[in-house]
Amino acid sequence: MTTAVRLKVPLSRPDLGERELRYVQEVMRSGQLSLGPVLAKFEQAFASAIGRKHAIAVNSGTSALHLCVRAAGIGSGHEVITTSFSFVASTNCLLYEKAVPVFVDIDPVTLNISPQRIGEFLTKCCRRDQRGLVINRETGREVKGILPVHVFGLPCDMQSPASITSRSSRIPARPSALPIAESRRVRSATCPVSPSIPTSK
Ligand SMILES: Cc1ncc(COP(=O)(O)O)c(C=O)c1O
Repeated sequence: MTTAVRLKVPLSRPDLGERELRYVQEVMRSGQLSLGPVLAKFEQAFASAIGRKHAIAVNSGTSALHLCVRAAGIGSGHEVITTSFSFVASTNCLLYEKAVPVFVDIDPVTLNISPQRIGEFLTKCCRRDQRGLVINRETGREVKGILPVHVFGLPCDMQSPASITSRSSRIPARPSALPIAESRRVRSATCPVSPSIPTSK
């Protein structure tokens, strides 16, 4: 006889309190629902919280990710290393730009993309061409970036991919949604890094 195992993994509850409700009400009552003074204030406060000069608020996480993908110059025929353990938006943003997602496995403890697996993919499956671009040996396509996801608010280890890749090429690792949870590591989670990738020739 087999015993069914029922495992319940709860999603974290949003941490919203009276103050947030008050702010939302203030905007709703102000009669100005878009591009009002609260937006500029929010952008400034957010930029300062993450130690940046500027921040731009958008309508959704999907839009924010899509803009990051565009800003990274990712487009048709590029490959981007990412994780399938995510909301579909993080992969859709690559597909919107006609890029190709390359899924690597996650770490069983953090559930975030595994830096070791990224390293394995790069060293076993990729080569560097004369221009220093990282090329997937099998598909011939350029591997243009890494799109990690900070699953359930636990920031990814952004240092390991940076150090795995710290020699001589140019793959930017770009952060994905859900990073603003753990303030201690929030800076490394939200700042794009531009590591380099050692691939076998
Ligand atoms: C990992 C991840 N990326 C992107 C999104 C998209 O955010 P939004 O629904 O605000 O577009 C979500 C939403 O749950 C998400 O979990």
